[in-house]
Amino acid sequence: MRAIRAAIVHCRGEPEAGNEASAIEYFDDGVLVLEGGRVVGLGSAEEWLASPAAGVTVEDRRGYLLVPGFVDTHIHYPQTDIIAGHGKQLMDWLEHYVWPIEARFNDQQTGAATAEFFLDELLRNGTTTACVFGTVHVASIDTFMAAALRRGMRMIAGKVLMDRNCPETLREDAGDGIGKSAELIERWHGKGRLAYALTPRFAPTSSPQLLQAISELLRSQNDLYLQTHLAECQDETRLVAELFPESSSYLGVYDQFGLVIERSVFAHGIHIDHDDRRRMAQAGSAISFCPTSNMFLGSGLFNYQAAKRAGIRVGLGSDVGAGTRFGISETAAEAYKVCRLRGDDLHPFEAFYLATLGGARALRLDDSIGNFENGKEADFVLLDYNATPLLARRTAVATDLEERLFALMMLADDRAVAETYVMGERVHERS
Ligand code: GUN
Ligand code: ZN
Repeated sequence: MRAIRAAIVHCRGEPEAGNEASAIEYFDDGVLVLEGGRVVGLGSAEEWLASPAAGVTVEDRRGYLLVPGFVDTHIHYPQTDIIAGHGKQLMDWLEHYVWPIEARFNDQQTGAATAEFFLDELLRNGTTTACVFGTVHVASIDTFMAAALRRGMRMIAGKVLMDRNCPETLREDAGDGIGKSAELIERWHGKGRLAYALTPRFAPTSSPQLLQAISELLRSQNDLYLQTHLAECQDETRLVAELFPESSSYLGVYDQFGLVIERSVFAHGIHIDHDDRRRMAQAGSAISFCPTSNMFLGSGLFNYQAAKRAGIRVGLGSDVGAGTRFGISETAAEAYKVCRLRGDDLHPFEAFYLATLGGARALRLDDSIGNFENGKEADFVLLDYNATPLLARRTAVATDLEERLFALMMLADDRAVAETYVMGERVHERS
């Protein structure tokens, strides 16, 4: 047994409007007690040190803020090397940047090297769990899953499925894609902390036959995920209306094939209406809010408050490589600005929830991660209020946790992540 002593904050539940603080548990001087990679205790240092359990070593990290590992609900690992590609909107950006880089992942070496860099970068930013796209190539997922398994990280990933409206080198027949997905499920789903997501890229690159076959595979086994893109930009949404004229909406295309379920994670969901929101809430599906991507491509402003009011599970997504930051803290800062541009607020505690427990709930992983309830897996991060001169100066004058957390969110980058832990083991230490 070990205990980490630091300031500690986590969410017990979803912050309610007007009473956000009641969802937050905070210890100015706390201890997080760990055993076998899991949380076995949390409390104030004073109380705990008065009668410590025998044989527990205390690691002193006072001065840092200990928080649950961040959850990234939507990211593309093969797009790491095309982050920050200038001058395009979604459909042109895919042609110009994405197809060429993804074509390279037919090679095992490319996948293996990129996966290692990508996972290092997640950990350097305090992200311990992500929902990840590969490419159409089986090797892209074999290499990614193997790397995540070695690191003991909780990851959801899947190979992309595309059978139309893409380059011939990335296209495969529906049957081939489904067969390869089934093999990958067999190999990786439920292994260690890994789970598999069936991954149709989006409706424009999917034939009705492909969506139907995905639906059947999805139902063949418990606990599989479905990840895709939904109504990210207007051109794409118009194209979907042309390709699927019989569907009532973009979401309706996925729904018609039975793909709107509890374990569906829809990236973006910007150009949707209230019926779509109601349907997603009723199905228990999640939306990944990807503000840096949405602003970078000029896709639109996600209506977070409408999604929340409708009762949809929302998490934050970096959406690298259209997203411009790996950091979920920076993603939360941009989410705040998107809300402001819509005339809405995003409370600091709500933003913190989205980055941790909210992301875990969106991915249906809140039994395992997202906060420090007893028995949960000990994935956590030590944040440094003094990481930069400006951050130190701003947080020094903050009068309460809410203000400090907000300043940290708005000003932090990977320099603020002092250490990252996976299952209680330190896997990143800032140099
Ligand atoms: N829509 C379809 N494919 C993609 C992708 O790779 N990135 C983003 N942001 N949107 C998409
Ligand atoms: Zn994406």
